[in-house]
Amino acid sequence: MAQSILFVCLGNICRSPSAEGVVRQMAAARGLELTLDSAGTGPWHVGEPPYAPMQTAAKARGYDLSAQRARRVTPADFSRFDRIVAMDSGNLADLRRMQPKGSRAALELFTDFAPDLGIAGVPDPYYTRDFDGTLDVVETCAAGLLDQL
Ligand code: 4NP
Repeated sequence: MAQSILFVCLGNICRSPSAEGVVRQMAAARGLELTLDSAGTGPWHVGEPPYAPMQTAAKARGYDLSAQRARRVTPADFSRFDRIVAMDSGNLADLRRMQPKGSRAALELFTDFAPDLGIAGVPDPYYTRDFDGTLDVVETCAAGLLDQL
């Protein structure tokens, strides 16, 4: 069965939609079949498409994020997905608090798949405004994750 991976950040409009889009495209290029989704821990942007400047930067690299819509993490996600990959350590701590006892999903930190970067967490471009820098990190982590499958 295809592995299922949920990417999680705070707003679900910048980092996790980018991770989903980049991994989706890289997996297809490698002929890997994966079930992918993304979600946020926060409520502010539910139902919205990814942040416009994030979409623009992603589109310039060939990643189309326009069909995605923000949603919140739910308790059911912890049994629906094999892996839940957090964008930063705050997201990971929130996920650990939310995880129902006995649920199967493995909780992981995206930057752990790219140890050479030497960073713990994908920088949030909603605050840094460096959308390309975030995409550089996301692409490196995505390749590292796919190398391990
Ligand atoms: P994201 O960035 O977690 O990468 O989607 C954020 C977007 C919006 C907010 C926070 C983070 N916000 O507070 O509205």
